[in-house]
Order: sequence, then C-alpha cells, then structure tokens
Amino acid sequence: AKPVIVAIDGPAGTGKSSTSKAVAAQLGLSYLDTGAQYRAITWWMVTNGIDIDDPTAIAAVAGKAEIVSGTDPANPTITVDGTDVAGPIRTQEVSSKVSAVSAVPEVRARITELQRSLATSAEHGIVVEGRDIGTTVLPDADLKIFLTASPEARAARRSGELKGADVHATREALIKRDAADSSRKTSPLAKADDAVEVDTTDLTLAQVIECVVTLVEEKR
Ligand code: C5P
Repeated sequence: AKPVIVAIDGPAGTGKSSTSKAVAAQLGLSYLDTGAQYRAITWWMVTNGIDIDDPTAIAAVAGKAEIVSGTDPANPTITVDGTDVAGPIRTQEVSSKVSAVSAVPEVRARITELQRSLATSAEHGIVVEGRDIGTTVLPDADLKIFLTASPEARAARRSGELKGADVHATREALIKRDAADSSRKTSPLAKADDAVEVDTTDLTLAQVIECVVTLVEEKR
C-alpha cells in the first residue's frame, strides 16, 4: 500500500489522541501528536521565564527549543533539548498557557515545518492529530477527519483522564481553550471543507476507531 496521510482535527476532549493512536497502531502507520509539540514549546517558555503575555518575547525565542517527537503509536515520545517532557507538558500550568503560545505566528511556522517533515518522511504513512492539520499543515492529506462532541461529553472525558478533577472547572477550562484556539488569527481550529465530521458524543471509543479505520482503508 502507498503511504497514506491522515489528518485528525477537533477540539479538546473529543477522543482525538486515543483514536489517532489506535488507528495508527492498527494500520501500521506512524503517529504524531501536534498538541504535544505546542505543549513542549510552551513548557520551554515557562521553564525559561518567558512572559507568556508578550507575543513579541515569545516570537523572539520561537526557534530556540529543539523539539523531537517519536512517532511510534505504541510509544509516542517527546523531548525538548534532549529532556523527556511527556509528563511536564500535561500540567494545568502548561494547559492554561499553551493557547497563548500557539497563537504566535513564529511558533506556528516553526512547529508546522517540523510536522511537514515528519509527515513526508513516514515510510508507511502517518496519522497526524491537531487543530489545523487538514486546513493548513497537510492540506493534501488523503483523509481528513474532524471529531466533535458535546461540551459535557468532552469535559467528562477530560476529567476522567485527570482522575477526579472537578468536572465543572475542567469544562470551563476546555471551553476557554477552544474559544482561544478557534478565534486566533493564524490557522485557527477549523474543519477543512473536505473533512469528514464525526460526532463522538454517543459513540464508544471502539466505534470511533472502527469508523476511522474503515475510512482510511477506503483510501488505500
Ligand atoms: O491536543 P492538545 O489539547 O494537547 O493541544 C494543546 C494545545 O496546542 C491546543 O489547545 C492548541 O492551543 C495547540 N494546538 C494548536 N495546533 C495544533 C495542535 C494543538 O494550536 N495543531
């Protein structure tokens, strides 16, 4: 089969990561979590004392961190300057600051370049998950999926992941992050015109995976 490029976009808590990893593993494809890359650069900004409210300061150092993503869906790794940051990028602090950092055009240009080079070098193809993959990063992807779910379902899934965190606070934080991601000037969260929309509110993870696997197989 020829390498197949799959773009999976959507807001937080729609099951993008679980679905993308499982689909890639099942079909023998590589996997890239682009949110982890934006989280990693945000972690670097925080660690180096960069003022998150100052886009000019962020732009000035956008090229400084060396971000390396491992693309094995069974073991997706992420390092910054050689340090494993898989844990630290999931903190509430990074989650609350990532939208501001990822809105800076210089940051997006840098990370987009990394994403395109990983996608084109994947031998058997790749599943790339994010917010602007189908619209901006890989507009020629073989298949574009846009995952949605009700705000309640998304918050419930996220608080499950966070193990007992307050669902209400999680819901508010998610809504705030989606609003910021959808309204920024440079490649906002958006469904590509040719993307297939899948509402996951009333579907199990297994059903979503099966649906996407079937769509990929039709393209191969
Ligand atoms: O997917 P995840 O929720 O980990 O993404 C974290 C953040 O990274 C998003 O809220 C968004 O601000 C940013 N992001 C982005 N473009 C992408 C992927 C993520 O701006 N392609």
